[in-house]
Parts: sequence; C-alpha cells; structure tokens
Amino acid sequence: MRKALTTENDAFGHALMDHLEGRPAHELIERSDGYLDVSAGGDTYFAAPTAQQARIAEHAVGRVLDVGCGAGRHALYLQERGREVVGIDVSPLAIEVCRRRGVRHARVMSVEEVDGSLGRFDSVVMLGNNLALLGSAARAKRILKRLHRAVVPGGRLIGETLDPYQSGDPDHAAYHAENRSKGRMGGQVRMRVRYKKYRSPWFDYLFLSRDELEAVLVGTGWRLAEVIAESGPCYAVRIERLGDS
Ligand SMILES: C[S@@+](CC[C@H](N)C(=O)[O-])C[C@H]1O[C@@H](n2cnc3c(N)ncnc32)[C@H](O)[C@@H]1O
Repeated sequence: MRKALTTENDAFGHALMDHLEGRPAHELIERSDGYLDVSAGGDTYFAAPTAQQARIAEHAVGRVLDVGCGAGRHALYLQERGREVVGIDVSPLAIEVCRRRGVRHARVMSVEEVDGSLGRFDSVVMLGNNLALLGSAARAKRILKRLHRAVVPGGRLIGETLDPYQSGDPDHAAYHAENRSKGRMGGQVRMRVRYKKYRSPWFDYLFLSRDELEAVLVGTGWRLAEVIAESGPCYAVRIERLGDS
C-alpha cells in the first residue's frame, strides 16, 4: 500500500514547491527497466485547465473528491465554480502547495486510505492520468470498492488515462510484453520519480485500454458510462456508481 511520502522521498512535491517558489523544476520518471522520461513539469501542473480539460472537469458535480490533486489545478478550477472540493495526495509538499495556492480542503492521504472521515461525495476526479493510480488489477478492485463507499448513490468518477498500446515506441511494446510474461497487465508500469537528490519509492501505474478498463470495473460497483474526450492515446471517462446490491 502506498503511504504518505516523507521530506526525504517526496521528489514530486519538491519539484512542485520549487516551481511555486520560482525555481525551474522538471522531475524525471524512471521506469523499472531504466527508461527515463521528463515529466510534464510545473508549467502543466500549475496551469489553468485548457478548454478541453475544463470541459472534462465540468462533469464533476456537487461535492468533489480530487484524488492525487498535485498542485491543485483541478481543485482550484472546481472550487472557483462553487463546488466543495477535498483534495488528497500522498505528497505532503503537494498538499502544502495546494494550501498556499488557495485550495480550502487539502489533506495528505492515499487513495487507499479514503474512508468515512472525509464525508461522502457526489463525484470523484482522477485527472491528469490519475486513473493510473489504480495500480494493478487487484489494487484497482480494492480502490474502486473503497471509492464506491465514499460516493453517494448516483455518484460518478471522472478519470483520465491513456491506452498504452497506442504507442509506436518499441521500448514500450517490449515493456508490455515483459509484463505479460510475468503475469502482470501490459500497461502496469513500475516507476519512481526522481528530482535533484530525491527519489520516490517505486510504485505501479496502471494504464488501460478501454476494454481493459471495462473489465477492471466488473464487480466493483462501477460501470463505464461514457468516453467524454479522447486525443491520441489519452482519453477521459465518466464512470457511474451502481447501486448497493
Ligand atoms: C501526475 S500527478 C497529477 C496531479 C494533478 N491531478 C494534475 O493533473 O495536475 C499525480 C499525483 O498523484 C499523487 N499520488 C500518487 N500516488 C497516490 C496515491 N496512492 N494516493 C493519492 N495521491 C497519489 C502524486 O503525489 C501526484 O501529486
């Protein structure tokens, strides 16, 4: 289970804090096979949502839980439009950044710890590819059941992710094949964040094709209702909460 990070391993949070305080910051994403990528960086995480991102966020109605809120761009957007938003993140520095930027309710908490102490929500958002926080097929089931308890009947989950199999990169295709040979889902990516001297613990992101997403939702109390937007491999979905059976 992913727990709250510490000052020593909160690599992403240090990058966000540097950006907030005017120091240029770009963290690296290191995959378990050594593949390195430069992340989107502060210009993205601090930017107001684009027109398309705003349209996606607008699907979040009522009281909203922002899972993995980062620097708070979606929480702030929704808060400014009258929603009551609670942002949670495993990064204490990200939560500090959110508070300094004006997010009214921001709390250090993993999505795996969501419980009744937060109250109940009409909507959950997992934006900025955060549906990938589902982590693995088994972990996804646990998290989705937990979120089902946190959301009112008729509630919804608005998520963004990407279909990993649409990449033409042979390194990615080889990683997916290696995953499958180990009994993992193809898009289950083990990675860590590196920034300056900081390294986060290793964690799994789960990128899913639409068919895989629908399969993962089975038995969790959630159903894929609508693909709201798509752009290349990236897509956004509205997932609806089914009744308590
Ligand atoms: C790619 S960033 C996206 C941030 C924000 N949603 C956005 O779009 O700007 C992912 C965020 O999820 C947080 N995170 C990672 N694992 C988490 C977990 N298990 N529970 C809650 N937040 C988590 C990270 O600390 C990071 O702030």
